[in-house]
Amino acid sequence: MKVALLPGDGVGPEVVHEAVRVLEALDLPGLTLLEGDVGGAAYRRHGHPLPPETLGVARAADAVLFGAVGDPGCDTLERHLRPEQAILGLRSELGLFANLRPAAMIPGLEAMSALRPEIAARIDLLIVRELNGDVYFGEKAIDVLPDGRRRGRDLMSYAEDEVRRIAHVAFRAAQGRRRRLCSVDKANVLETSQLWRDVVIEVAAEYPDVSLEHMYVDNAAMQLVRDPGRFDVIVTGNLFGDILSDQASMCVGSIGLLPSAALGERETEHGTFGLYEPIHGSAPDIAGQGIANPVAMILSAAMMLRHSLGAPEQAERVEKAVARTLADGVRARDLGGSAGTEDVGDAVIRRL
Ligand code: IPM
Ligand code: MG
Repeated sequence: MKVALLPGDGVGPEVVHEAVRVLEALDLPGLTLLEGDVGGAAYRRHGHPLPPETLGVARAADAVLFGAVGDPGCDTLERHLRPEQAILGLRSELGLFANLRPAAMIPGLEAMSALRPEIAARIDLLIVRELNGDVYFGEKAIDVLPDGRRRGRDLMSYAEDEVRRIAHVAFRAAQGRRRRLCSVDKANVLETSQLWRDVVIEVAAEYPDVSLEHMYVDNAAMQLVRDPGRFDVIVTGNLFGDILSDQASMCVGSIGLLPSAALGERETEHGTFGLYEPIHGSAPDIAGQGIANPVAMILSAAMMLRHSLGAPEQAERVEKAVARTLADGVRARDLGGSAGTEDVGDAVIRRL
């Protein structure tokens, strides 16, 4: 089992380090770790946020464990050299179109939610976010109009096959859960969303056991804080999924808690090739202080064990150890505690 480690920027290396310690504590037979530079760190060393060597390391692996990218010192670079291009490049180059972002309340953390505890207690949802299309990858430019005004534009588009394949992922995920799927779009205004909705309805015919509803994204944002417990699986496009998943994280309690998996169609010896990353960013304000919460990263490693490494029992062991750690009150600052990054890692390893 080959795992590529791409720690990246800011708190990325700190949290990846803890996830690696957890993986090593599991004593998986034949686990090999490879490493690559990515993001601002790669730009500084190689002049590019996603050097070909890094892409090569990722391709050669069964799974990628990705920390975070983002570096304020790089924000004035041309867009193609900015750190964020590394993760976008990996997602598209590796065909990772399906982003699974689970958000579930961890018992004992209800009071940390931005919502009332009795509402937060019911959260157990999965956001299935499309990852290879939408305004993220459409034609984009800042140009100058004939009258001299500057104009920015980003093309939103989805082809039907792109919608169909993510819809299948979402319907199958719903079959493994509470069999309810909510497709989020903005079909009252956007043609891209109208096509999205039409295709999701076509695909639904193959899943009569899953109940499907459609919701406009503005309403979805509202329902997510009004009654998040009403959601099982949400499927949506790249941009709406980006926004709603950050929102879901604060409903649970902290953006430092939520993991994610980016999957494509490539099968490996042990499972599906995937890239695993916390949904949080590089958090430059707290980088290097040893205080970042490594839970989202450790839970991302658990998702990797389940989806890419064929080790679901080990995934469950890690998830249970994390839940016990938090229930026992070992919490980093984002959760109102005083545990450092390594303290949380130590506590998880002790509970494995
Ligand atoms: C995420 C992040 C990325 C995204 C950024 C870093 C490009 O916000 O994974 O949610 O927008 O997809
Ligand atoms: Mg985001």
